[in-house]
Amino acid sequence: MKTRKPFVVGNWKMNGDLIANEHLFTALRASIDRSLLSQVEVAIAPPYPYLGQASAWLGDTEMAWGAQDVASFENGAFTGEVSASMLRDLGCRWVIVGHSERRTLLGETDDLIAHKAERALAQDIGVIVCVGETLEDRESDRTESVLAAQIDALARFTSGVRVDRFVVAYEPVWAIGTGRTASPEQAQAAHVFIRSRLAQAGADAARVRILYGGSVKPASAPSLFVMPDIDGGLIGGASLVAEEFVAICRSAALA
Ligand code: PGA
Repeated sequence: MKTRKPFVVGNWKMNGDLIANEHLFTALRASIDRSLLSQVEVAIAPPYPYLGQASAWLGDTEMAWGAQDVASFENGAFTGEVSASMLRDLGCRWVIVGHSERRTLLGETDDLIAHKAERALAQDIGVIVCVGETLEDRESDRTESVLAAQIDALARFTSGVRVDRFVVAYEPVWAIGTGRTASPEQAQAAHVFIRSRLAQAGADAARVRILYGGSVKPASAPSLFVMPDIDGGLIGGASLVAEEFVAICRSAALA
């Protein structure tokens, strides 16, 4: 039995609409009950415009909702940005920062990601910081140095950060949306490395949850979640299909 409570987060990415979301929320409410939530923490991250809808559908449950990004600025003339205090207003308990899609498609740097995380933490919003290497990094034996740089960049807030407000998601870029999952052993090795690096950065590393993300499906979830340093998952594609997401939450509860 792991001492860290497993955590499963649904990252809807830029998918959904009011009607489709309503179906998904209805199905999640029906299947993810209190008894399951006593064994696994669950959060849903819909696109920004649907955070109010998430609050309406999940507000009376113990499921949390959160955003997929946050501004690094506090407030003011930043057209198109959404601040941490706005997320707080909408009841977000979590925010994902540093997803590889934002790192690669939108040029987000380690430094920017650390700033975003600090903004969220200052509003008492938990952060799920994504890290992970590309296929090229892995094939040229740079996985550990890339992960080290991504974790070290967080050092200005990791010492003293509350472990219920700080989660790391290991998402090898080559496994995201590709159907290619890291093997449980590959993921476990990366998680051990991340945990040791978090300790060096002053975090209470033994208590920080490290999620795996990248093509997690109901069939692959159990063998990943059983690994000692894998504390749940950040789920993309499968979080859009209620039965798949619920099955993944159940495997996390059983691991
Ligand atoms: P995937 O996405 O499960 O669709 O691979 C995971 C993620 O990018 O968070």
